[in-house]
Amino acid sequence: MGMYWTVFLLFFFHCLADRFHFKNYEEYAKLGDAPRQTYRSSPALSPLFNVDIWNEEGIDTDAPYIFFSTGDGLHQGPYIFSSKDLSLVYADRHYNASNNARVQRYKGKNYLTFWEGSQGKGHAEGVCHIVNTKYEIVHSIQTKNLRAKTDLHECELTNDGTALITVYETIPFDLSSIGGKVKDYILDSVFQEIDIETGKLLFEWRGSAHIPVTESYSPYEKTTPKTGWDACHINGIQKDRNGDYYLSLRRMHSLVKVSGKDGSRLWQLGGKGNNFTDLSDGHATDFAWQHHMRFLDDDSTQLTVFDNRNLHGEKEVHCVGDSCSRGARIALDYQDMTARLLQSFYSPNGLLSYAMGGYDTTPRGNALIGWGSQAAITEFSPDGVPVMNFQFGKLGTWMRTYRVYKGHWEAYPPWPPGIAVERAPEDCNMFIFASWNGATEVKFWIVAVAETKKKLDDLKSVRWCSGFLKVGFESMISYDGNDAFVRVVAVDKNSNVLGATSIVDTKTGKQAPGKKPAEKLRYDFGSSRFKSNSWWG
Ligand SMILES: *[C@@H]1O[C@H](CO)[C@@H](O)[C@H](O)[C@H]1NC(C)=O
Ligand SMILES: *[C@@H]1O[C@H](CO)[C@@H](O)[C@H](O)[C@H]1NC(C)=O
Repeated sequence: MGMYWTVFLLFFFHCLADRFHFKNYEEYAKLGDAPRQTYRSSPALSPLFNVDIWNEEGIDTDAPYIFFSTGDGLHQGPYIFSSKDLSLVYADRHYNASNNARVQRYKGKNYLTFWEGSQGKGHAEGVCHIVNTKYEIVHSIQTKNLRAKTDLHECELTNDGTALITVYETIPFDLSSIGGKVKDYILDSVFQEIDIETGKLLFEWRGSAHIPVTESYSPYEKTTPKTGWDACHINGIQKDRNGDYYLSLRRMHSLVKVSGKDGSRLWQLGGKGNNFTDLSDGHATDFAWQHHMRFLDDDSTQLTVFDNRNLHGEKEVHCVGDSCSRGARIALDYQDMTARLLQSFYSPNGLLSYAMGGYDTTPRGNALIGWGSQAAITEFSPDGVPVMNFQFGKLGTWMRTYRVYKGHWEAYPPWPPGIAVERAPEDCNMFIFASWNGATEVKFWIVAVAETKKKLDDLKSVRWCSGFLKVGFESMISYDGNDAFVRVVAVDKNSNVLGATSIVDTKTGKQAPGKKPAEKLRYDFGSSRFKSNSWWG
């Protein structure tokens, strides 16, 4: 539906209401562990960033969005940010702790997938959601025939219409070989392959059945019937086109290929059962406590990994050389069974991350690295130069991200755009705020004002309005007039109307969620932090 707008710009002034990113870590860190920003037209809450490297040409915007979650407790659903300016695109606080948000393909369409549950220590129980482009949950992947629920580490959709999920389940197990008891308990690393449509279990694998516990690098810890000793710590699964699986086992320091027929170990990279000759002085196979191992090609000849390297860096920020965490790209040759290190990426801030971490390869071949238990994300160009580096919380605190991804997303939320209207007490200037959480296709905001509510009910009859290019998450439009009612209409690049806010009575500001006092607004308004962006035509 195309619409024709009569445009009056005389009384309007428009700018970005989002806060600008910090550019000074010292100043930023004074704000606390988790600096956040709120919005007036939306209850969304998002981290405030400190951006210390931003090379616009180098950053890969072919993947327009960044996906991650901050893992800072409850009500921190998945986040989507713009690759262009790091502005918020989607935040959802109605989900519990979430992890691993990213876009995956299922039946030829894009879906947002992420884990939701109650966060535990090192592993967790919840469910993996598959969400469509209207943000509706279409499938929730749950374990089959196990007491334990879906773990947070992996939810990988395959080309076979299945999901691969990790599960942590405590079972009785003889641990006498590593200093435990004969009648002891292991926190078993399990994975299941589940048919998405039917929920049917197609394959199951158990670490305790296939990998000797003596190969673990984790010292034995006292157990209870509820909390077993975590020998393997599975944190990544990938299926190849022959139906075999690659598993990342953090506490074994290994990538293991297992048979899709019987789960047996076919070969191993790294760890005590390593089968590869290292052509890079040990640096292709010496990864430790690693995360997010991912083959890049169908022939499984190149893989990427976030190599934590160390378990003891919880509060440590600075590290030197080989003691730092890194992203690594490794080439495997199955003829000679050799491994070669192609590239290592270190944080420009010198970071050691004892847990979590992710390495995603963007369409142009950049390396996007999330530093796990350190609240920082870096993007490197293919030749290893950092082109983007930012923090989303204070380093060395509980602010963290499990994995980070870049990708495409086109979404049309079923909820309407949000609006807030504020009036400074002593003047007649009106400030109109507009945003639409999760909407990716809004190009312009059209503001319509009228003396009666009725005139705004039918959008087609609206004549008294003005259009503005949408920038950032929330736009602020200043209006110097006396009309009693206002609403904002979201329009795509072809002038199609995508949605409209509720109509707000400008005298009372009613129907304005997240409304803040006008005094606060004055502080921001007109300051050099804001860009002015107007559009008409
Ligand atoms: C979310 O957390 C609440 C409260 O802790 C719990 O009752 C609920 O089951 C959780 N939901 C999921 C999907 O884990
Ligand atoms: C891998 O190494 C293990 C332990 O040395 C050995 O038993 C196994 O046969 C090797 N597998 C391959 C495929 O080389």
